Amino acid sequence: MRKSWKVISVLLVVAFVSMMLAACSNDASGSGVSVGIVLPTKDEPRWVQDEQRFKDALSDSDYTTEILFSQGSSAKEKENVETLLNKGIEVLIIAPHDGAAAGSAVEAAKKEGVTVIAYDRLITETDAVDYYVTFDSIAVGAAQGQFLINNSEGSNVPLYLYAGASSDNNAFLFFEGAWSVLQPKIADGTFVIANSSEAEALQDKAELTRDEMSRILGQVTTNWDPNEAKNKAQTHLTAVGGELKGDVAILAPNDGTARAIADVFATDSEVTSYVVTGQDAEKASVQYIIDGKQSMTVFKDVRTLVKDAMGMAIDVLDGNTPATTGAYDNGSIEVKAKQTDVIVVEQTNVKSELIDSGYYEADEFTGL
Ligand code: BGC
Repeated sequence: MRKSWKVISVLLVVAFVSMMLAACSNDASGSGVSVGIVLPTKDEPRWVQDEQRFKDALSDSDYTTEILFSQGSSAKEKENVETLLNKGIEVLIIAPHDGAAAGSAVEAAKKEGVTVIAYDRLITETDAVDYYVTFDSIAVGAAQGQFLINNSEGSNVPLYLYAGASSDNNAFLFFEGAWSVLQPKIADGTFVIANSSEAEALQDKAELTRDEMSRILGQVTTNWDPNEAKNKAQTHLTAVGGELKGDVAILAPNDGTARAIADVFATDSEVTSYVVTGQDAEKASVQYIIDGKQSMTVFKDVRTLVKDAMGMAIDVLDGNTPATTGAYDNGSIEVKAKQTDVIVVEQTNVKSELIDSGYYEADEFTGL
């Protein structure tokens, strides 16, 4: 009798300890979240697209993930990272709202031993970033600039410059790429800058410093906000005389701002034609391109970026070292990076690149 009690109590202890261990291991995987994903805002189709592509890619994966949006606020972003840390994530994939302000959020993650992957936008001025997955952003800007060159005729073509938010490192890369091809064409009189005295003052410089670009961005930033883009375009067209209208070229940094700017230029009776750039291949802009209201977009295949980011995350979870193709200086360290190419889309190839490739469905558009 005594003996059997002993056996039962030992069994009870073993059962209790194994229950405790099971509970702990559940907790360690943070109610199951191994990869946390933080995106900048739901207010732009670009990032909703990324969310969808992450969901598509993860639908039959064994890894548990959670996606949170920061709604254009660095404070909310930090809160999101903390929420994910509390759930026990091992890898953080993050596209920062503000590249420098995100430093403290990723430093908190690093302290917990989490691997940090910057997604599309670099996090700057911190050593708490392990990897960066990105498109070739200089090539995006260069493609936009080259498109304006290829589609403008004659000389003294008024050139309207617009840029992204200064808090986003990409805004500088896009502008740098565009300037590298446009500057020689400004210097040789093909284009005349219409809306930035700072850019005019620098028009003989082939390469601009970050500070010089900041001065130009200070005048022509859209802050990635279509409303701000619209207001600026209206102000610019009101300020100029007829000699800066007629057939014009417009460097618009992305699709959301391109549509807003294009709508303003389209309603000015002294603007006879405009060529306007974009990027992201947002559905609304694809329709604008089909309708001849936006001239081009730079297609960045988000499926590839998602695949690269998740591939890296899985490598890390499996204890392997992710493959990279280069590095980006973030002002503090060289961040190992994997970079993806981009594709220029205009009316002539919109169907082959975006529909035939299976990126979008034909019935999402009219007049294809
Ligand atoms: C992204 C663009 C996007 C822009 C505004 C950039 O960092 O690379 O694709 O249009 O932010 O959200």
